[in-house]
Amino acid sequence: MERKRILTGDRPTGRLHLGHYVGSLANRVRLQDEYECYFLVADLHMLTTRPEKQHIEAITENARQMVYDALACGIDPQKSVIYLQSAVHETYELNLFLEMLVSVPRLQRLPSLKDMARDAQLNEMPFGLLGYPVLQSADILLPRAHLVPVGKDNEAHVELTRELARRFNHLYGEVFPVPDVMVGDVPTLVGTDGKGKMSKSVGNAILLSDDERAVEKKVAGMYTDPKRVRADIPGTVEGNPVFMYHDVFNANVEEVDDLKERYRAGRVGDVEVKQKLAASLNAFLDPIRERRAAYEARTGFVDEVLYDGTVRMREQARDTLLAARKAMGLTGVWNKVSRKAEDARKKRVKAEGAGSPA
Ligand code: TRP
Repeated sequence: MERKRILTGDRPTGRLHLGHYVGSLANRVRLQDEYECYFLVADLHMLTTRPEKQHIEAITENARQMVYDALACGIDPQKSVIYLQSAVHETYELNLFLEMLVSVPRLQRLPSLKDMARDAQLNEMPFGLLGYPVLQSADILLPRAHLVPVGKDNEAHVELTRELARRFNHLYGEVFPVPDVMVGDVPTLVGTDGKGKMSKSVGNAILLSDDERAVEKKVAGMYTDPKRVRADIPGTVEGNPVFMYHDVFNANVEEVDDLKERYRAGRVGDVEVKQKLAASLNAFLDPIRERRAAYEARTGFVDEVLYDGTVRMREQARDTLLAARKAMGLTGVWNKVSRKAEDARKKRVKAEGAGSPA
């Protein structure tokens, strides 16, 4: 039996953070033996909000950092394909076919797109940004993926992909599996400021590549229970970002329970709670840092990984597009034209003994 396939990825906006890890990276690493995995560097998606030349120039380095992060977390380039979206031209082609199968109001109803436009300080919705989830669907359908591990914020996009796959299959015949979505154990990790989800652009992120000192500093500055101005005032654990992180990243459950109990009773200072959190985060990040350093020591290795992955993806993409064009009957249109053209040329050559049309 052939293994089922996964496709997922991220925009190359820089280094990845803890939110990426719990939202999706952990699932990717866990599933890479069970599934045939395709991970993309979604540089075309970045263009939907950032089309300026300076952002394009930053793609190469950001893509490298992203690949380092993936490898550092345990993605194995022998097993999984990591590829550059803009270098697989079938993406653009499938995107166009899918654009015909969705209405503008359906896309306008997606809150994520309005959020992205606002975050990027765009006062009008670009045509391409409205098409963001269609392009994402092209990514997912290109390797005919069965499963898409993503963060909670991408769930509605995969729902659209499911609709597009069904619509395509209904109109033209079964080409695409209808993919399932998989959201991580911690669907949305709160940022260090306690305000919204962790995001690099907001500046509330702990990066997978942060060193020990950086983690300690960020944790020391974390938002906690604002009502607790002294250590002997009972504090609230629920919804407190420091304890949310303890729950996710501190492997020592007894220590976490003890801290919670003392926090609720007003018998522990924030400093101790935070120091223990920083220590457990550093313990969690240490093997990731070590793997990153080992890969960084191999000059050009990430470029090779991305290059080889893109070449492998291109093969897969060619197969899928051939199947899609055939199902749609577009191959037939071209075949008929070329056959007729050939016949006509042959006849003329016979009649006139001449080469090309006058
Ligand atoms: N939308 C994803 C993000 O938020 C990136 C992405 C592009 C993606 N294409 C995808 C994710 C396909 C999963 C599947 O960065």
